[in-house]
Amino acid sequence: MSDTGLQGRRIILGVSGGIAAYKSADLVRRLREVGADVRVVMTRAATEFVTPLTFQAVSGQPVHTSLLDSDAEAAMGHIELARWAEAVLIAPASADLLARLAVGRADDLLTTLVLATEAPLAVAPAMNRVMWSHPAVAANVHVLERRGVAILGPGSGDQACGEQGAGRMLEPLDLVRRLGSLFGPRPLQGKTVVITAGPTREPLDPVRFISNRSSGRMGFALAAAARDAGAAVHLVSGPVSLPTPAGVRRLDVETAGEMHETVMGTLDGCDIFIGCAAVADYRPATVAAGKLKKGDQRMQVDMERNPDILAAVAASSPRPYTVGFAAETDDLQGHAEAKRLAKRLDLIAANLVGVPGSGFEVADNRLWLRWQGGDCWLGPASKEQVASELIAFIAERFNRE
Ligand code: C5P
Repeated sequence: MSDTGLQGRRIILGVSGGIAAYKSADLVRRLREVGADVRVVMTRAATEFVTPLTFQAVSGQPVHTSLLDSDAEAAMGHIELARWAEAVLIAPASADLLARLAVGRADDLLTTLVLATEAPLAVAPAMNRVMWSHPAVAANVHVLERRGVAILGPGSGDQACGEQGAGRMLEPLDLVRRLGSLFGPRPLQGKTVVITAGPTREPLDPVRFISNRSSGRMGFALAAAARDAGAAVHLVSGPVSLPTPAGVRRLDVETAGEMHETVMGTLDGCDIFIGCAAVADYRPATVAAGKLKKGDQRMQVDMERNPDILAAVAASSPRPYTVGFAAETDDLQGHAEAKRLAKRLDLIAANLVGVPGSGFEVADNRLWLRWQGGDCWLGPASKEQVASELIAFIAERFNRE
């Protein structure tokens, strides 16, 4: 096989219980052929299908099967193994294993390792076609996908149970190829990226605030994509209910004023700034000390402007490569270009909001990119996919300038 990108890579191969486990012995052999260093971790159910001795023979290494095995822990403890790994591939991944991963169980060595590692995770599902099409399995796969887990397969064809359909584990050579792509180019290696995400909250009184519709998903997806591209990432986030992508430094803020101050404090050494937060443009001019009481039929709130964080970053010196977002309900291109010029941005990414399939609080997104001298569209695709394409685009332009 030509260069797979796996030469010298440290891979944990997790094997769960399924008839396809017999193919995983060949997978170990194939991974070693392309120069990968493989350690095998088996679930208890996997050992019912293939013996640990088989994997020990093909990997040339002791096989890990139990969290509570003192001999194995003495050789390489599970935390050490989790740190050692540059990627974790679980093949086959049974329906039960996918369910345990989806809810974050740590009830055996393999699931514990998955929680304890910062390495990318890929799973190769293998099960009966009816199980694969079950909504419960689909929901678990969806959760994992959203979390950035690479779902490799399954393929279609004859099944061990005599049926035909989707659910076969991909062939070992296919898996080697797909795993190699996880180690693609890292165009932002050694660079620092600061990203703002989520909404801001502007208090009216101790219990009420003014905010906006933003889930933070696009900014968090950008943070994970920038990390995957090799960058050190600082994610300045308003209040959202999203897990922090592993390996990303998250700084939580609430108001636009706090976001402004925090961003300015992270600019030293920042190469690329991406303003993805939906910052409230105005805040109540005064915050009541106690809870405001109902009174008249009408209520007036005096508002004052918040600092424009993005424009402030673009005006800083030395300035990072500065990328802004524009959420528009009409004349997307006209408004976005006006913003790019007014805020002196290197690049603006604009999306329509208030239409199906784009914008706030939805999974998919479509972006119009505009820079000095050109424009293009990204998507429609999942926010994760659009984020990784946008990061690849930004890296290319940043490295060119
Ligand atoms: O001017 P508008 O709010 O539409 O611009 C949107 C872009 O500016 C986004 O990138 C947003 O993160 C950023 N912004 C900011 N500070 C503000 C308002 C918007 O950084 N106060």
